[in-house]
Amino acid sequence: MQEFTYAHKNTESGERITPTAQFNLVKTDKRIEELRKSAFAREIPVSDSETLNFLTTFLQAFKPQNILELGTAVGISGAVMLDICKTAHLTTVERDENFYNEAVKNFKNLGLSERVTAIYGDAAEETSKLSGEYDFIFLDCAKVQYIKLLPRLKSLLKRGGVLLADDVLLFGYITGEAEVPKKRKMLVEHVREYLNVVTNDSSLSTTVLNLGNGLALSVKK
Ligand SMILES: C[S@@+](CC[C@H](N)C(=O)[O-])C[C@H]1O[C@@H](n2cnc3c(N)ncnc32)[C@H](O)[C@@H]1O
Repeated sequence: MQEFTYAHKNTESGERITPTAQFNLVKTDKRIEELRKSAFAREIPVSDSETLNFLTTFLQAFKPQNILELGTAVGISGAVMLDICKTAHLTTVERDENFYNEAVKNFKNLGLSERVTAIYGDAAEETSKLSGEYDFIFLDCAKVQYIKLLPRLKSLLKRGGVLLADDVLLFGYITGEAEVPKKRKMLVEHVREYLNVVTNDSSLSTTVLNLGNGLALSVKK
């Protein structure tokens, strides 16, 4: 099994092959698609096509107005969400300065700046300063942090709001389909803990979807 710098990447194309992936290709605005291709070519971590397909389909029905994203990278998933939710506002946090700067530039070029609050900083620190109520949270930063972030994200989420955590199946490591490499053991334990907690939390209703690299969709009751 090939190993990459980013834990979310596991195939040469950067996308995990699932049985449904062939049917679930995302169709986005051409400019966003170009940015996505360029990001993949430069090995910048970007959600895979199947995940973005789920995001766009789900958001067309759910229509959130106030979106929070942890892990902006260069702004692709953020732009995709705003392209679907035409009146929504996005608050998005990124700790890598180069990615943050590129995301800000991309939002500007796509005419989205007025609907984005882009924050440069660490997800835990920055979410502790936020006070708004969000109806949709896309959790896509370091997977090892998901469990630590959960209590704060639950309090930022409206009742009826959705917390969508990306990459929770980690290339089959979580389900036992693939052997866990030594250096991923700690990460796998943290993600397993996240899944155990969200699936047993009585204030949430959670389903884990075998799409992309695995998604955990939790609704706040
Ligand atoms: C998988 S990428 C995000 C991809 C992006 N959501 C998309 O689909 O276009 C994860 C990003 O989270 C950022 N990140 C990781 N840990 C973080 C943290 N603790 N706080 C803020 N950003 C973080 C990384 O620098 C990386 O750019």
